Amino acid sequence: MAFPKQVRLVEMSPRDGLQNEPGPVIATTIKTGLIDRLADCGLRHIEAASFVSPKWVPQMGDAAEVMAAIGRKAGVRYSALTPNLKGFESALAAGVDEVAVFGAASESFTRKNINCTIAESLERFAPVVEEARKHGIPVRGYVSTVLGCPYEGEIQPEQVATVAKALYDLGCYEISLGDTIGVGTPLKAKRMLEAVSRDIPMAHLAAHFHDTYGQALANLYAVLEEGIAVIDASVAGLGGCPYAKGASGNVATEDVLYLLNGLGIETGVDLEKLVATGDWISGQLNRRNGSKVGQALGGPCQ
Ligand code: HMG
Ligand code: MG
Repeated sequence: MAFPKQVRLVEMSPRDGLQNEPGPVIATTIKTGLIDRLADCGLRHIEAASFVSPKWVPQMGDAAEVMAAIGRKAGVRYSALTPNLKGFESALAAGVDEVAVFGAASESFTRKNINCTIAESLERFAPVVEEARKHGIPVRGYVSTVLGCPYEGEIQPEQVATVAKALYDLGCYEISLGDTIGVGTPLKAKRMLEAVSRDIPMAHLAAHFHDTYGQALANLYAVLEEGIAVIDASVAGLGGCPYAKGASGNVATEDVLYLLNGLGIETGVDLEKLVATGDWISGQLNRRNGSKVGQALGGPCQ
């Protein structure tokens, strides 16, 4: 058992957290208020927006406005999703620090999410990575459905390893492994990681676990034991995927931070401020705080 000394938390709430929020489009000022508060908590990597088709994901339609209005805190990386060159060009114009392409281990999910096959998705991502390289912009790669698919069920670790390696070989500096529908359990997570890390060094992998079945913290503990040191999470457990019915949010950042603090792992993030931020955004969205730690330490209205 060799836990990392430090973990980099990648904050998902402004993108993965808000992209699926039902009802009217959330005001840009709420999005920017969230991002600025998160930066103030000590988070150093915030996925701030998504340059996808607004017809597909209306909540992310103001990505350029969000990027223009946030306070750019020194030392913070503000990243965004870019599924194709059109998205990349908009992201570049908006001054993002980093972009991310997103594929999946399952053909059906890839079709539902980005309207193409896995092979076509890789063809689309190649010029994005190439353009990003020309502009000195790092590219992250996501693989969704790594522990199960809402359409195909079981996903073999080798399927995940193949897509992860293809994204890494394209030039993605880090591959984030997404349990999109939160169905994984710790041994499954370890086996998947074992297969992926045969081709990609552990230092270039991240865990992106949704908490639909309440297993995310257990799964994170399991992959921390294997050496994962980058974790995606979403304050107040906000979120879900618009193309994965029933999927709930990412594991809550407050809950992950509480776990990491207990293990003596450094993150540079202030728990008290993070809990206040989770309370604040839950109030703005008029929804219950999805973080257990947020509920335990947060305001009286929770
Ligand atoms: P398509 O319809 O096949 O694309 O969608 P197209 O190239 O045929 O274009 C159709 C229209 O979309 C055109 O407009 C384009 O200009 C426009 P029209 O001529 O009809 O007016 N368009 C765009 N507009 C703005 N920005 C763009 C863009 N591209 C095309 N970048 C496409 C293909 C990929 C665009 C679409 O399927 C899409 O936007 N999908 C986004 C899906 C999405 O955002 N899903 C959620 C994020 S992934 C996730 O949550 C999982 C993750 O968290 C990890 C995990 O949990 O597993 C990352
Ligand atoms: Mg996700």
